[in-house]
Amino acid sequence: MRMKGVVLAGGTGSRLFPLTKVTNKHLLPVGQAPMIWHPVWKLKQGGIEEILIVTGTEHMGAVVGCLGSGKDFGCRFTYKVQDEAGGIAQALALAENFASEEPICVILGDNIFQDGLGSQMEAYARQGRGARILLKLVPDPQRFGVAEVLGDRVVGIEEKPKTPKSSMAVAGIYFYDRKVFDIIRTVRPSGRGELEITDVNNTYIQRGEMSFGSLEGWWSDAGTFPSLALAGELATKEPAPFPDIPRKD
Ligand code: DAU
Repeated sequence: MRMKGVVLAGGTGSRLFPLTKVTNKHLLPVGQAPMIWHPVWKLKQGGIEEILIVTGTEHMGAVVGCLGSGKDFGCRFTYKVQDEAGGIAQALALAENFASEEPICVILGDNIFQDGLGSQMEAYARQGRGARILLKLVPDPQRFGVAEVLGDRVVGIEEKPKTPKSSMAVAGIYFYDRKVFDIIRTVRPSGRGELEITDVNNTYIQRGEMSFGSLEGWWSDAGTFPSLALAGELATKEPAPFPDIPRKD
């Protein structure tokens, strides 16, 4: 199945202020590379070379400066500007023309993880339509979207619940068919004023078109000081992304 990639790298990065005062969160170091190299590398390793990067107005120049056309990465990058940080689903809506008729693999730019995505891509290709999310057992589910699973079905997701129904966090790695854009148009802003990806995922669940897989290896977001430090520590133990891109010593 041909699939395109989307990396969402907008948002304000306010939880990492003052590190994000003069740069985009996704350009901060994680292990031996800028944060955004990690999700791009996962897409590339999974065979996806056509990748859309969505980011905000403030640091778009720096993001383009970091990634360029994609030539050095063996990829083709397209860029879209999210004018305001109106939520993950709002950022994803900008991918509609880019995706065209093709399914997409979406990764949040601050999600750092160990697993390769090849087997999940194959599972989604077999599914052929709808959506697929990846879950990870975590000690602090209140920080994430939390999935309720019954047997082999995910029956609902709650965004940052005070009393989570499980410890299964929804990772920021999603597979969608083209219906995602129609669904986003039906989503209304949440209490925090954002178009929530969890509302999009719950629509797929209600339609019976959502599957899920599990992340076997470690996974961390990198959006807070402790999680940024943890992601860096974990990433340092793995081979650096894009090893063929020359590093100066
Ligand atoms: O990390 C996984 C979690 O990410 C999920 O479990 C949650 O369900 C999902 O809502 C999200 O939660 P966060 O509140 O941690 O998301 P955050 O606002 O930190 O945004 C994560 C990334 O999404 C960020 O690095 C860039 C992108 N983003 C976010 C917003 C709000 C955008 O591109 N545009 C935006 O407007």
